[in-house]
Amino acid sequence: MKKSIIANWKSNKTLSEVAYWLNNFPNNEESQKALASLEIILAPPYPFLALAKEIIMERQLPIKLAVQDLSGFGSGAYTGEVAAFNLQDLDVQYAILGHSERRRFLTETSQLIADKVAEALKFQIKPILCLDKPYFTEQARFLSSDSMSACSLAYEPVAAIGSGQAEEAGNLLAVRQELAPLYEAKTLIYGGSVNADNVGAYLKVCDGVLLGGASLELKNFVDLLYVASESLKI
Ligand code: 13P
Repeated sequence: MKKSIIANWKSNKTLSEVAYWLNNFPNNEESQKALASLEIILAPPYPFLALAKEIIMERQLPIKLAVQDLSGFGSGAYTGEVAAFNLQDLDVQYAILGHSERRRFLTETSQLIADKVAEALKFQIKPILCLDKPYFTEQARFLSSDSMSACSLAYEPVAAIGSGQAEEAGNLLAVRQELAPLYEAKTLIYGGSVNADNVGAYLKVCDGVLLGGASLELKNFVDLLYVASESLKI
């Protein structure tokens, strides 16, 4: 099973920066071979999805697309919202949902996030559900059993996000055990100050990592991918 490396660009980058990043992402025989053990997922800001899809297709890049959020409503009269329905022709395979920044700055509730998960699933978009201690039980409350089993779980301790204070990889076994009776999902992803120095340790104990800062500069990100892929050989 490939390990997932998810780049969450948050509200960073302009159209030309996105084009630069994707047009310069390595794609030769050597890089394809080196990165084959990884599932690389990119979550750009919404306005850049169509361009990202185009370049990924044109250059045949080994990158899948995610959104950083989507509407808890369907298509229709919901001004400003982007519904899963709207994404149908954009090759979006994943949705990061319930990120702590959205729970905190946009007051997203667990009920709303459960609605978003259900909307994503209606359109075959796999939810990457972000969770934080000590709220695992509360964050699970409104999810249907189908939703739970379909989500990948992303454990992102708020204190570790953007702080350089990553959670010890050794703690993730306990997190997995804590989540197991609450969520039927088995996939566990870690996010919070992941970088090239610590990525290998996380990939040993979980199924993938969610990156913010370390995904923005192309060179940093590609270096991290190579380190991640090497770490899986050991
Ligand atoms: P950083 O990697 O910048 O800590 O951000 C993590 C994150 O929030 C990914 O969703």
